[in-house]
Amino acid sequence: MAEAMVEEQLNDLSVRDEEDDIVDPWNVTSKSETGIDYEKLIKRFGSQKIDQALIDRFEKVTGQKAHHLLRRGIFFSHRDLHAILNHHEAGKKFYLYTGRGPSSESMHIGHIIPFMFTKWLQDVFKVPLIIQLTDDEKALWKDIKIEDARKMAFNNAKDIIAAGFDPANTFIFNDLDFIGKCPAFYQNMVRIQKCVTFNQAKGIFGFGESDVIGKISFPSIEAAPAFSTSFPFIFGDKVLPALVPCAIDQDPYFRMTRDVAARLKLPKPALLHASFLPALQGAQHKMSASDPNASIFLNDTPKQIKNKINKYAFSGGQPTIEEHRQKGGNTQVDISYQYLTFFLEDDERLAEVKKMYESGELLTGELKRIAIETITPIVQQYQQRRAQVTDEVLRQFFEIRKLDF
Ligand code: TYM
Ligand code: TRP
Repeated sequence: MAEAMVEEQLNDLSVRDEEDDIVDPWNVTSKSETGIDYEKLIKRFGSQKIDQALIDRFEKVTGQKAHHLLRRGIFFSHRDLHAILNHHEAGKKFYLYTGRGPSSESMHIGHIIPFMFTKWLQDVFKVPLIIQLTDDEKALWKDIKIEDARKMAFNNAKDIIAAGFDPANTFIFNDLDFIGKCPAFYQNMVRIQKCVTFNQAKGIFGFGESDVIGKISFPSIEAAPAFSTSFPFIFGDKVLPALVPCAIDQDPYFRMTRDVAARLKLPKPALLHASFLPALQGAQHKMSASDPNASIFLNDTPKQIKNKINKYAFSGGQPTIEEHRQKGGNTQVDISYQYLTFFLEDDERLAEVKKMYESGELLTGELKRIAIETITPIVQQYQQRRAQVTDEVLRQFFEIRKLDF
């Protein structure tokens, strides 16, 4: 086995302790009410923590105030962000790559977190962006027909475009339609496939003997867009590094990609990892499209949002008003408060809500109301922008073409 693989092997799924959180592309669960232990995850995965020094450097290099998702540690971990900042400082170009596995007609408010952040990164760095829709992945893993996975990809692309992307510098593709049209992409897939044995894939992803063979080769498809040579119509033969913003469940794909990159003599993609927007019922689970009562969808009505938060959002409040006034609420486990950390941009107001809830001045019902009043207009504005995304707009993003940069 090549030496470069050793580092990645140490971080594979098989080294998980019984009591550890489960975080992989298919499952995210924690036994703790406060959710995933992200510090521990950084150690297990071998990534780096985003600390204040890195945020300060980011602000210095870009001349921009860090996004609230960065300031608040929601994007909490990275690989090689310093290298990307050096590259940018030297006046050299990189590109952004992110994606979505279309498994539901509408995306939920957790899915848009990486896309909102990616949009901001693109504005800050003025770089091209590539968005992969892995409809093939969902057809392989779920009971979804090829035709239906493609339809979901186009529907989800409209949700993604509504985050504010511009077709001048953004290319979106779905695997089931694009790969057959792009020989360079397929050739990179095969280069990647040649570098990874079944044993290694088993170690990284937990595949078993009875998994269909499509799953076993799929990681090469999520890896390929991390190499600029997969898109000659955009980059010509230029080799640019990629920066990949995603939630940390996607990291196994990119541990593999970074290992392969070294062997293909291509730049390793840099990573920015987000933590998960928790499910309504509590931080033990991430918000997931497969459970409608655990999620707020981008196409929910104001009434649905209000009902879901009031009915399901796990509360860190005390059982009685008297006790609550005395002891105060627990923001560490309170889902309405957690949502505010993702969606309420105003730092001062957030700090004030925290103080009032923890002191018992603010009751659970009142905190829920603040969450509803914060999230509802964001979803409504999203729906207005999405209504503008016609099939013609969609076509512009999917067209094989050069990008401006
Ligand atoms: P998917 O569709 O499961 O998720 C899309 C993106 O959203 C992140 N995510 C979340 N972020 C915050 N809170 C949550 N509750 C939450 N749930 C999901 C995911 O990490 C991801 O960033 N295989 C991928 C598609 C893909 C991709 C990529 C993702 C292809 N290439 C490159 C990131 C980067 C998938 O099924 O994502
Ligand atoms: N108790 C306040 C009220 O009922 C709740 C509230 C609304 C709040 N917006 C706020 C508390 C902003 C702190 C900060 O109106």
